Amino acid sequence: MKKLLLALSLALQAAALAAAEPSPVRPEGVAVKDYPWLALPGETNEALERKGDRKRGERLYALCRSCHLSSAGGSSDGSVPQLAGQHSTVLIKQMADIRSGARHNATMYPFAAVLADPQDLADLAAYLEGLCIPREHGQYDAPDAAQQLAKGKALYERECSACHGPRGEGARYKFHPVIAGQHHAYLLRQMTDIRDGKRPNVNPEMLSVISRYDDEQLLAISAYQSSLVMPGRMCSARPPARKQ
Ligand code: HEC
Ligand code: HEC
Repeated sequence: MKKLLLALSLALQAAALAAAEPSPVRPEGVAVKDYPWLALPGETNEALERKGDRKRGERLYALCRSCHLSSAGGSSDGSVPQLAGQHSTVLIKQMADIRSGARHNATMYPFAAVLADPQDLADLAAYLEGLCIPREHGQYDAPDAAQQLAKGKALYERECSACHGPRGEGARYKFHPVIAGQHHAYLLRQMTDIRDGKRPNVNPEMLSVISRYDDEQLLAISAYQSSLVMPGRMCSARPPARKQ
């Protein structure tokens, strides 16, 4: 009986998720001073104003599947990031930055370049944002994991969680990415690239914070970040563990 109820509630949740109309990302009646990204140039801002069409986004995603996979979970070795459940604002900005060259990504550039217009970006973002975050991602599992996680937690909570959230949930209207469910090796590479000036499209505040961290500290933070869990947003290909 319990199982049946669980199955029913999961089915209802899925139906509610599918029925919810994705709205344009820009909330109505807000001022530029509250949302500095309203001042972004060109394509990004145009895409943010469009209403995303998930069905169309799913079809366009055929272009992306070979690398980011059907689940949009990417690769657990960190070579390709997980995209499912990422905020649409973040997805739109990153896609537009990759298209314009503001974020250098030679592997993906040819695929991003064939997208036609801001509507394609909005549709892809609406589709990806609505997917649940796969739990089977690359986490830090070396023998010193327990120590690294404890060290990383202390560092993360000191200066990073204000923007990326205590559970790695980020902030949709501020372009702060979701970190929960992201691969450890990808996070470490991005943080190192950002600190070392190889990802110039980054938020300047984030850059000034991270520039004070050394490689060992970043390793510990990435270990902790990849262990974060967002309840209700994550899913597993395996049956969930029984509650005690
Ligand atoms: C040939 C492989 C490949 C294809 C095809 C591809 N990507 Fe990517 N994508 C990557 C890689 C690799 C990265 C990470 C690069 C890095 O480390 O900075 C990436 C990064 C991204 C990011 C940034 C994620 C973040 O957390 O900042 C987004 C968004 C993205 N891809 C969306 C897409 C979409 C949408 C498509 C289809 C239109 C697509 N990609 C097609 C390989 C690919
Ligand atoms: C002022 C807010 C802010 C603070 C503080 C901040 N970040 Fe960020 N972070 C951002 C934003 C915004 C981005 C997206 C940048 C972009 O547009 O490319 C980002 C990107 C990232 C990414 C890349 C995510 C991806 O999907 O590619 C990582 C990893 C990250 N931050 C880790 C950290 C860590 C670790 C700290 C603490 C040392 C930190 N951040 C502090 C705002 C912040």
